[in-house]
Parts: sequence; structure tokens; C-alpha cells
Amino acid sequence: MSDIQGTGAGRLAGRLALVTGASRGIGFAVAKRFAAEGAHVVATARTVGGLEELDDTVKAAGGSITLAPLDLMDLDQIDVLGASLYQRFQKLDILVGNAGSLGRLTPMAHADPKEWERVFRLNVHANQRLIRSLDAVLRQSDAGRAIFVTSGAAAGEKPFWAAYGASKAALDTLVKTYAEETRKTNLRVNLISPGPVATQMRAAAYPGEDPADLTQPDELAGLFVDLADPACVRHGEAVRFGD
Ligand SMILES: NC(=O)c1ccc[n+]([C@@H]2O[C@H](COP(=O)([O-])OP(=O)(O)OC[C@H]3O[C@@H](n4cnc5c(N)ncnc54)[C@H](OP(=O)(O)O)[C@@H]3O)[C@@H](O)[C@H]2O)c1
Repeated sequence: MSDIQGTGAGRLAGRLALVTGASRGIGFAVAKRFAAEGAHVVATARTVGGLEELDDTVKAAGGSITLAPLDLMDLDQIDVLGASLYQRFQKLDILVGNAGSLGRLTPMAHADPKEWERVFRLNVHANQRLIRSLDAVLRQSDAGRAIFVTSGAAAGEKPFWAAYGASKAALDTLVKTYAEETRKTNLRVNLISPGPVATQMRAAAYPGEDPADLTQPDELAGLFVDLADPACVRHGEAVRFGD
């Protein structure tokens, strides 16, 4: 079925967008903004309550959304999602690989191997699997857009942040490689580095911080619209919010 479409107005009118990690934080704000810009949003995360809150918010504003509860750690389920997107819509215009995990901040020498694997599974392997499962439907779009969320921690200068930082560095390489492989297609593939944003993840890393001093998720959403817009010409870039 290709019957579900976004609303008629806005920069993303009629576009179909998949947003991971849409139950709260940055992903919630991006999904809400995309719907306000006219996209039909497919929103994924594990927490059904957060997705339902998003659903209520989007529909109250006249937007269009489908909820797809999913644990991205179950990599095979990503293939199932890709197949159902193909069956239902035949194409995907926008992929936002936003879901991520901080893991436990700990000295390298004490890192729990299982925790290390969990962080990589979500931050790296799930995004590789999303690309693998969704590349074909993105190429069906006249202007496919893929956006992944990285971090300044990828530079590797933060003691105790090794698992998260190394996983984001791996994500950067993965996404830049995908960008090179798609340079001659209609796809535009980019990374966003948001800086400090007032979310649950940031509060876990810096519990003493006043969230009011940080970028709010809604403030960041416009940058995602820029990179999701069919008119976007940026490709293979790591775009830092505020630059
Ligand atoms: N906040 C910052 O300052 C900051 C800075 C740089 C980069 N980032 C990046 O921005 C992205 C969003 O982070 P955030 O700050 O918005 O964090 P957040 O509030 O903790 O949200 C994380 C999102 O990821 C989803 N998620 C986590 N584990 C999942 C799983 N196994 N399967 C499916 N979804 C899962 C969560 O949903 P469920 O728990 O419902 O599954 C949630 O929607 C992340 O990639 C993060 O690394 C954030």
C-alpha cells in the first residue's frame, strides 16, 4: 500500500521518513518536526508509551505517522522492517539513524565486554543493518536522504567514554563510506553532530547540569529538515549543529 502520505504543505510534503529512537529526546523532536513539514513518519523505538505520546502530538497537529515498535538490538527485525516498508510504500525518502546508547562511562581497563558489545550493536551494527535493509527502498526515491547522528566523542578525547566514542567513530567511517558508494545516485548521506542536547542520555552523562543551559531537541530539528529536504546538496559531511 502506498496510500499513507504526509500532509500537502511543508518542506517535506509527501515524503516518507523513518526515524529511529523516536520515543524521546532528539528522535522525538525530529519525528514531530518532519510530520509538521508534511512528511509521513514511521517512528521506531522500544518504548510504546513514548511512541504513543509522539503519535498523539503529531496527530493533534494534523500530521501523519505510523508507529513501528522495534528493538534495534534484534538485528534480524531490521530486515523485517525493511521488507514491510517495501511492501507497504515501495520506497523510502528519508532515513534518520538516531537511536543510540551511551553505555556505562568507565575506565577502558575496567570496561565490561558485554556492555562494550551492546553499545557497538546499537550504535554501529544496527545502523549498518538499516543501510543494508533500506538501501534498495532509498534508491527508489527521487531524492533519498540518509542522516545519522554522531558525537564529538568520536574524536576520542574523553576519558571513560571509550565504548561510546569508538562506536561513533566507527559509525562515522561507515556512513562516510556509504556516502562514497552512493555519490553518483540520487541519495544524499550525511552525519549530524548535535553538541550537548537536553535529553535523557545527556542527563545520564552529566547529572549535575542544568538542562535549560543546553540545546533543546526542538531547536536541533531544523538541521535534520535541511539535510532531509529534496533540495539538499550536501553529501558525505559531518555537520555540526551551530556551525
Ligand atoms: N543528547 C546529546 O547531548 C547528544 C550529543 C551527541 C550525540 N547524541 C546522539 O543523539 C542520538 C539521540 O540521543 P538522545 O540524546 O536523544 O538520547 P535518548 O534521549 O536517550 O534517546 C535515545 C533513543 O534511542 C532509542 N533506543 C535506545 N536503545 C534502543 C534499542 N535497543 N532499540 C531501539 N531504540 C533504542 C530510545 O528509545 P527506547 O528506549 O524507547 O527504545 C530513544 O528513543 C544518539 O545517537 C546519541 O548518541 C546525543
